[in-house]
This record gives sequence, structure tokens and C-alpha cells, in this order.
Amino acid sequence: MLDGKKILLVVSGGIAAYKTPDLVRRLRQLGAGVRCVLTRGGAQFVTPLALGAVSEDTVYQEIFSLTDENEMGHIRLSREADLVLVAPATANILAKMTQGIADDLATTALLATDKPILVAPAMNVRMWENAATQHNIKTLAARGIGFIGPEEGDMACGEWGLGRMSEPEAIAAAIENFFRRDLPLTGTRSLVTSGPTHEAIDPVRYIANRSSGKQGHAIAAALAGLGSQTTLVAGPGHQPDPKGVDVVKVETAVQMLEACRQALPVDVAVCAAAVSDWRVDTVAGGKIKKSGRKKTPALKLVENPDILASLSAPGNSRPRLVIGFAAETDDLLANATAKRAKKGCDWIIANDVSPQTGTFSGDNNTVHLITDKGVEDWPTLAKTDVAERLAGRIAETLSPAP
Ligand code: CTP
Repeated sequence: MLDGKKILLVVSGGIAAYKTPDLVRRLRQLGAGVRCVLTRGGAQFVTPLALGAVSEDTVYQEIFSLTDENEMGHIRLSREADLVLVAPATANILAKMTQGIADDLATTALLATDKPILVAPAMNVRMWENAATQHNIKTLAARGIGFIGPEEGDMACGEWGLGRMSEPEAIAAAIENFFRRDLPLTGTRSLVTSGPTHEAIDPVRYIANRSSGKQGHAIAAALAGLGSQTTLVAGPGHQPDPKGVDVVKVETAVQMLEACRQALPVDVAVCAAAVSDWRVDTVAGGKIKKSGRKKTPALKLVENPDILASLSAPGNSRPRLVIGFAAETDDLLANATAKRAKKGCDWIIANDVSPQTGTFSGDNNTVHLITDKGVEDWPTLAKTDVAERLAGRIAETLSPAP
């Protein structure tokens, strides 16, 4: 996710410039704001109108244009961004950057910026392999400029080799990784369970519960937002997949446990799913019919595996931190404290799910965090804020500040 990040995209004159509207669209979908600077060469391959429409911002082109300079000087343009991305980066612009040439708006902004620069080169294979280009690349890399690609493949000129610009999807992913590198949970792995499970009775009926998955999904999003590589094992529901999270969709408790095991090893596991405690012993192969039946059918239930208890069990693959939820309608703190001990998890989040609280379907949650140090009462918060606060606490515990 790139929420609120400001990216200055310099589009130089290569055929791959035609892909930049798609790149801008993807970066914006990830939450970034994108402002474009288009070189004269770039404008041969993509129009300012197209970039302006997808970025919903002015496209800056001319250093001596009164309008552009009045509105936004090149210094401000380059300083207001969190990151400068050059895509496509031609052999020519890389050479100018190496030499510090500033003969148009794009190269002047690149020389003036105090922000990190990433480049996505795009050129013919011979130009890429040329000793001059190779020298420039080494020089720029030594100055801390990051490279995305290029890739090997067919080129617009008909040749094959190294020099194709990375696809917009790969560039967007590289930018996400770039922003993740300094986050508090960078380098960690997280597992979150969320939503209900459905336990089949027959092909058309199942046992379910009222969990919406809002809280679990928000926790996965918050952990990923702090840089953790996050797997979300989600039961059936309508929550959109959180961005930047690896989502594994399951139906039943047995499938959920298997998906969690597959995701190990992780540093932290948060079990927010409302797992059905029981499943039907023998699922009917066909629809159980009412007609022609003398007695009401009885369901024989068997206990489901306890995912939280299983992840909490001592062993090599036990996460460093295992966190459960205790959804209770009575004696909240006493039940939650007992549940923490019974399941063997490190922390438990107690929440009152009595119907009058509206917790199950609502956007807010009033929780108490129970750790080995005692009980913390949190105020009523939006589920997204509970998630962020929890992710912050996890980060403090996994990577304490020096
Ligand atoms: N949990 C789990 N697997 C199960 C049942 C529960 O992982 N089969 C997890 C939930 O995700 C939650 C915690 O255990 O983090 C507590 O769930 P809850 O339904 O409150 O507890 P139960 O074990 O079902 O206990 P009880 O029904 O007695 O309240």
C-alpha cells in the first residue's frame, strides 16, 4: 500500500512511455498521489492529456513555460514528492543524470531533488549493453539511485534481449517494497485468521455465525501497512481483500487450520476468526429432504480443531507472539483470562459481543488487551483503529526501539 505517498513520475522518451498511464493508475489505486513531468521525447509517445486524466493533476513539461514555473517551480516540484520515479528511463536521461546535465524540466528536477530516485530503464539491448550506459548505471547505482529492471524480452525494434521496461505491475510492486524497507515490521511475517467458517450439513446448508471479518481483515491490513509480509486466512465473507496482503480463502475450520500451517513459520499469528467449534460428522451427499420423513433429523456434531491452541502449542514452528480473541457475552474479563490460559496464547483481546453492543456487524469495537502484564482497557474505537493500535503494539514487542 502506498497510502498518501507522493510520487513524481518523470516520463522520458521511449516507446514504453505508452505504458505510463497504466502505471499511474496502478500507483493511484495503491493510494499514492502521482504528479507527472513529461520530457519532449516522452510527449512523442504519450500525451499530457492521458497522463493528466489518470493522475488528475497538471502534467509539467516546460522549464521555461511561464504557467508551469509560476504554478510550481522545479525546486518545489522535486521537493514535494516522497520519491522520484523515472519510467521509462532512456539511455539519454540516464546519461544526463550521470553528468548532472539540467537542460529541461525533467533533468532540472532530477538534479534539484533531495528525495530518493528510482529508475525503470527502457532501451534497445545494444544501447543497454553499451559501455557508456553500463558505466552510467554503475555510477548512478553507486550514488544510491535504485533500479527497477530492465527485463529481458522482445523489443519494439524487433530485437530480443535485456532492455525492456518492467511491466507497470512490477514497477508498482517495487515501489511498495521501497516504502516498506524502513517500516517497523519490515522483515517479519504475520498470519491472521478472519471471518466465520462454514460447516456443511448437505450440499445446500451449512452452520455459520455472524462474524463479518471486518476486524480480522483490518488487522491484516494494519500489519502489512507496517511492513510485515502478511498472510490472511479468510473464511467466507464480503470484505474486500486488503491491499498488499496474501489472502487464502477457506470455508471450513479444517481448511483454515491447514492454510495456517502452510503459512508457517511466522513471527506473529493473530486469530481473529470466529471458527465454528463443531462440524457435522457426516455431511449428506444430497440435499436432506423434508418430504417423506417421519422424524425431524438430528445433526451429529464433532469438535473442530482449535487453530489458536494449535498455533500456541510449544514447538519449533510456534510464532514468537500468538494473539487470540475472546468473543464473550457474559463475564468478559474472567472468561477471556481463562481462555488465554487454556489456549496457551500470549495475548488475548476480550470483546463483548452481546447483541446490544453491535460488535459483530458494526464498525466499532470496545476491547480489552490481556497480556502477562495484566488488562488494558481500550476506549471504543473504529475496528480499523483497533487494528492499527494492535499492530503498533505488535511492532513494539517484535522489534523494540533500541
Ligand atoms: N479459535 C480457533 N479455533 C477454534 C475456535 C476458536 O482458532 N476452533 C480461536 C478464535 O479465533 C479466537 C479464540 O480462539 O481467537 C477464542 O474463540 P472463541 O470462539 O471465543 O472461544 P472458544 O474456544 O470457541 O470457546 P467458548 O466457545 O467456550 O467461548
